[in-house]
Amino acid sequence: PLGDPARGEKVFRKCAGCHAVGAEAANKVGPQLNGLFGRTAGTAPDFAYSDGLAREGRNGLVWDYDHLDAYLENPKALVSDTRMNFRGLKDAQDRHDVLAYLRQFSDN
Ligand code: HEM
Repeated sequence: PLGDPARGEKVFRKCAGCHAVGAEAANKVGPQLNGLFGRTAGTAPDFAYSDGLAREGRNGLVWDYDHLDAYLENPKALVSDTRMNFRGLKDAQDRHDVLAYLRQFSDN
């Protein structure tokens, strides 16, 4: 395993203003992130995505590990017109840890 989920829970504090996971998770500024791995980009129910992220999903972007790693490192490098205004996690271990944490809320 690349990441430590317990450490990732702490990294997720940087995301939690905009995103929720877990049993009571709802959409906030960003979509809820349950079931993220294997989900087509831009398809969480009842969330109003940017045209850019919705387009990427229609074009076949599925959130696998490598695409999530790239998006979290620099969101606008992967999807130039995404509305996620987050500078990104520049540290690779931070990304691995937060992805290990998020994977606990996914079946894939
Ligand atoms: C979208 C993860 C930080 C706001 C997304 C998506 C992921 C993600 C995976 C795509 C979801 C999908 O396609 O359903 C994360 C993680 C973060 C983080 C792990 C912390 C490391 C933030 C922050 C904000 C934010 C701090 C608010 C300032 C959004 C918004 C979208 C989004 C608005 C939708 C983007 C669009 O429609 O283009 N995030 N995010 N995120 N996130 Fe984040």
